[in-house]
Amino acid sequence: MEKIVWSRACSVQSGYLDHQHQKLMEIINDFNQAVARGEGMKLAYPILNRLIQYAEKHFRDEEKLLEIARYPPEQLHAHMQEHEKLTEEIFRHGENWHSYGKEALPEIGLFLKEWLMEHILTSDMKYSKYVANIDDTFLSVK
Ligand SMILES: [Fe+2]
Repeated sequence: MEKIVWSRACSVQSGYLDHQHQKLMEIINDFNQAVARGEGMKLAYPILNRLIQYAEKHFRDEEKLLEIARYPPEQLHAHMQEHEKLTEEIFRHGENWHSYGKEALPEIGLFLKEWLMEHILTSDMKYSKYVANIDDTFLSVK
């Protein structure tokens, strides 16, 4: 599977959130590379765990910044619901991957890749003009 590569087209106009998105891409690339090397059975679980932990932190940071940027409440609410749904889906994969067997791992990797890119390029992109002029440096100190 081709690696996810960050490009300017993925920028949401916040340096900190862009950095976090790059980190999420790296973790998903790690997952797919482990599967391609035949190490999926050993590494899928720890990598999915790392993804869940990092995604949860990222979602919290993103939601905090959107509140500060006065993203319209209905849109923020819908965005938060999307985050919740995505977290549940990763959890579901994390819990069930071993019962699907090794054959299911590439499919999980593809799901993660498509999920992240779709979320950034459609949902996250909608808030970019709101966060473009907001100081996001406070997020990096936590
Ligand atoms: Fe988001």
